[in-house]
Amino acid sequence: MGQTQDRGSEDIVVLAPQAAEAAAFFDSLGLGYQHAFEGRKTSQIQAAERLMSRLDPGARVLDVGCGTGLPTAGQLSEGGMDVTGIDVSEGLLAHARRQVPGARFVRADLFDQELDIGPFDAVVSFYSLVDLTADMFIAALERLRDLTVTGGTLLVAVSERRTDDEVRFMDTSYRPALCRREDLGDWARQAGLWVDELNICPEQGAEGQPETGLYLWARRFRDSPPSRSEPGQGAMADR
Ligand SMILES: C[S@@+](CC[C@H](N)C(=O)[O-])C[C@H]1O[C@@H](n2cnc3c(N)ncnc32)[C@H](O)[C@@H]1O
Repeated sequence: MGQTQDRGSEDIVVLAPQAAEAAAFFDSLGLGYQHAFEGRKTSQIQAAERLMSRLDPGARVLDVGCGTGLPTAGQLSEGGMDVTGIDVSEGLLAHARRQVPGARFVRADLFDQELDIGPFDAVVSFYSLVDLTADMFIAALERLRDLTVTGGTLLVAVSERRTDDEVRFMDTSYRPALCRREDLGDWARQAGLWVDELNICPEQGAEGQPETGLYLWARRFRDSPPSRSEPGQGAMADR
């Protein structure tokens, strides 16, 4: 585990190296991150709408890596959900608290085992599990599972990375970890999740370049991983 930081606010968080790096990067972007993607979040907004249609009014929803709170935490909060957002970037959380006053925002690292929140009726993560190795991705899905009630829904969107060719993101470039549609369902099952759907959605990156979003719909079904031969596991669809 990394350093413990007490910023004198209600949030006392432990940041591991991945989280500390993400926090510094997204702090430096500020609202520029939100503006870069404005008008390019159609699939994300539609997915959140669809999630709400399955939930009761007032359902508890956790937005992991909520960023500035827009569009998702704001959309869910306006839709009558009881929303909590977590993120490691204090800078983005400050915008989230201002832009979405109806939700609760906590500075926290998803991987912090001491994190004492939830469980939630649904957990969403839109593009916050980025550039993780397969092992880390599975560990992240296990964390999301543990934060969800039995029978609750997980909705995770990630950019597909079929090669480690350089990716441009907000004036930086890096070589991504692989994240392929054919692996994602397996990773979810290894994390003990029941996979309902994997939707493949055309997206645009921050520079307007075409990208592919993978939208995983899964459920915390029970404590042990479901067998791979069970029906209903892993339907894949283009959207
Ligand atoms: C690409 S942004 C996505 C923001 C938002 N979900 C959206 O759709 O606009 C990724 C976010 O995940 C956050 N993040 C990265 N690693 C995290 C971790 N370990 N725990 C919590 N948040 C994390 C970053 O600080 C950043 O705000």
